Amino acid sequence: MTTKTVPFFEYPRLWKDDRDDFLSIIDNVSSTGGFILQQAVFDFENELAEYAETNYSIGVGNATDGMEIFLEAIGINNGDEIIISSHTMLATASAIKVAGGIPIPVDIKDDDNLICPSAIENAITENTVGIMPTQLNGRVCDMDSIKMIADKKSLFIVEDAAQALGSRYKGQHAGTFGLASDISFFPAKVLGCLGDAGGILVKDKDLYHKMYQIHDHGRDLDGEVKRWGRNSRLDNIQAAILSFKLKNL
Ligand SMILES: Cc1ncc(COP(=O)(O)O)c(C=O)c1O
Repeated sequence: MTTKTVPFFEYPRLWKDDRDDFLSIIDNVSSTGGFILQQAVFDFENELAEYAETNYSIGVGNATDGMEIFLEAIGINNGDEIIISSHTMLATASAIKVAGGIPIPVDIKDDDNLICPSAIENAITENTVGIMPTQLNGRVCDMDSIKMIADKKSLFIVEDAAQALGSRYKGQHAGTFGLASDISFFPAKVLGCLGDAGGILVKDKDLYHKMYQIHDHGRDLDGEVKRWGRNSRLDNIQAAILSFKLKNL
């Protein structure tokens, strides 16, 4: 019997398939000297928000940062519990932990391997503040049931949509059901770039500004420092590459 190793993802093809376009994008962006927070980033953020049919997007360093940033902007207190799927990536839980909360993993449904609404209901305690379903494998969770539970118990919804760009539930794009969501542009993702990168999707203007400030040292769009923040910015070369790839997605 012969065996053949099938690669999980052919990383070199990411470069090879579009090499000439990438070289000209890198040359164009680099020639202008605009490497950080310049037009290519703003263009991509607008294109991503438009693609996902939401109001705003923010380019960040990676999807994990995106989750930490939106949780910080929403405001998590020590001991706050957030219910997540037990079938997800480590980052879903670690982002909650880093933001000061407690991740509570619950079971998945047999038919789609996504978070189970009745398991969510059973896990709610007086410390539960939110639900963070992971949209996975090209599918979107049962958002009608999850929204019903969240409304009944006054919980917020945020989504880990790192792998879910382009997935829809009853016509609505993954990542647009709650206060905010993260999208990953890790090379092997639906829209992969040439390194680490991520995006946040958000509808509310005030939350958008808070998250924008947190991702750029506390500075708002006008450069005014409004709070303590960090540096988790999408760089211009990756943004221009993502714009190119999004057009062909
Ligand atoms: C479901 C899920 N959430 C979060 C992440 C983290 O994304 P990133 O590597 O961009 O931080 C991943 C990446 O594998 C993921 O699959």
